[in-house]
Amino acid sequence: MAFLSTKTGQFTYFSKQLGEPDWRGKNVLDFGGNVGNMLRDPNCTIDEERYWCLDVVRESIERGTEMFPKSHWTFYDRYSFFFNPHGARQLKLPEIDVLFDYVVAYSVFTNTSRSDMLDFVRQLEGKLANGGALAFTFIDPNYHSWPGRDARNNLVWRLEREIYLEKEKGNTLDIDLHALAERAKGAEWFVLVNGEDLYLETEQTKRYEPEQQRTYHMFYTVNYMKSLFPRATILPPANDEMQHCCVIRK
Ligand SMILES: C[S@@+](CC[C@H](N)C(=O)[O-])C[C@H]1O[C@@H](n2cnc3c(N)ncnc32)[C@H](O)[C@@H]1O
Repeated sequence: MAFLSTKTGQFTYFSKQLGEPDWRGKNVLDFGGNVGNMLRDPNCTIDEERYWCLDVVRESIERGTEMFPKSHWTFYDRYSFFFNPHGARQLKLPEIDVLFDYVVAYSVFTNTSRSDMLDFVRQLEGKLANGGALAFTFIDPNYHSWPGRDARNNLVWRLEREIYLEKEKGNTLDIDLHALAERAKGAEWFVLVNGEDLYLETEQTKRYEPEQQRTYHMFYTVNYMKSLFPRATILPPANDEMQHCCVIRK
């Protein structure tokens, strides 16, 4: 079934991270923006006609077009684990004849491979207007997002969530949560596939047929992101969320 996002609060998150609540008159590209929930945030100040969204889920683009017809919606038929398993592996970003003041990606590179993230960040930087900013989220596995309220770090939170979501579907995830969390300790980056297969500091995973592709969760430590993007500012989560933000300004 096609993925349609129900997450809200993305505008509030990025406006806090970028220190600017007034986005009127700014061109905005929401990379992996899905149905454009950013526009539905009550705090949103984006001009509808200055909003562009690219996503690999065709149905999300159709839904966004229906809800916000003045905005610009493009289906990008690139491969993505689970989201678009039949897409093309090496498809360049579609041409858009505009430069952007803000390019944002909320929880997109948390679901794509490391080499895809590096490729997209390079291409998206090229779409910035002078003075513009690219802001994207990532998840640090060791970070405690809600200290005082929740003793778990982000990785343990995710593992428990995967168990819960599978249970809701009537399935049992056969994992030793604590052994997995222990294995990941000390790794600078890794991917958790389908909530059960952990690959440390490598993109070489076993083959998953399209119908076996459920989730692909990438984790990066803050220090590792700093080493990948030395020009970036790395910010802790805002808006009571769990995702860090990497900001690259032009
Ligand atoms: C967790 S959802 C977040 C959606 C949206 N940003 C939000 O916050 O509601 C991840 C999104 O990234 C999109 N995505 C995954 N891989 C992508 C890629 N290679 N290019 C563009 N979008 C991608 C998915 O289709 C999905 O809509």
